[in-house]
Amino acid sequence: MDDNLLIREALKARELSWSPYSNFMVGAALLAESSKVYSGCNIENAAYSPTNCAERTAFFKAVSEGERKFKTIAIVGGLRSSKELSYAYPCGVCRQVMMEFCDPKSFRVIVAASEDDFEVYTLEQLLPKGFGKSDLD
Ligand code: THU
Repeated sequence: MDDNLLIREALKARELSWSPYSNFMVGAALLAESSKVYSGCNIENAAYSPTNCAERTAFFKAVSEGERKFKTIAIVGGLRSSKELSYAYPCGVCRQVMMEFCDPKSFRVIVAASEDDFEVYTLEQLLPKGFGKSDLD
């Protein structure tokens, strides 16, 4: 699965965003080591705090299907009204969820504005000195 294809999946997932309060639509596509792709969108709530980000929707779908190892996530986000997207970086809570299941040095985070306009980071770049499982050993 190449990066462009993963971004395309994230763009498709974004269309399903439930975001009537912020109107900020986010989509994510998570590539597992199994080669399966799990998509996710943000899901807001009238009580606000139960809102779930697109990235965590994708991770929770995958983990609940038995996946434990991941290679790459593609993320796209922007206001419903905007014709062109700019980069939408993952929030701190989503970075921490990535830290639970991914190797910070090799897990790739693609932040995309379109299929051919994107940046790639490792999780370690986005969450330096993160707290993880090994800290509890
Ligand atoms: N959001 C995400 O889906 N992912 C992020 O990493 C940042 C924020 C969503 C949550 C909320 O529905 C909307 O964007 C505005 O914060």
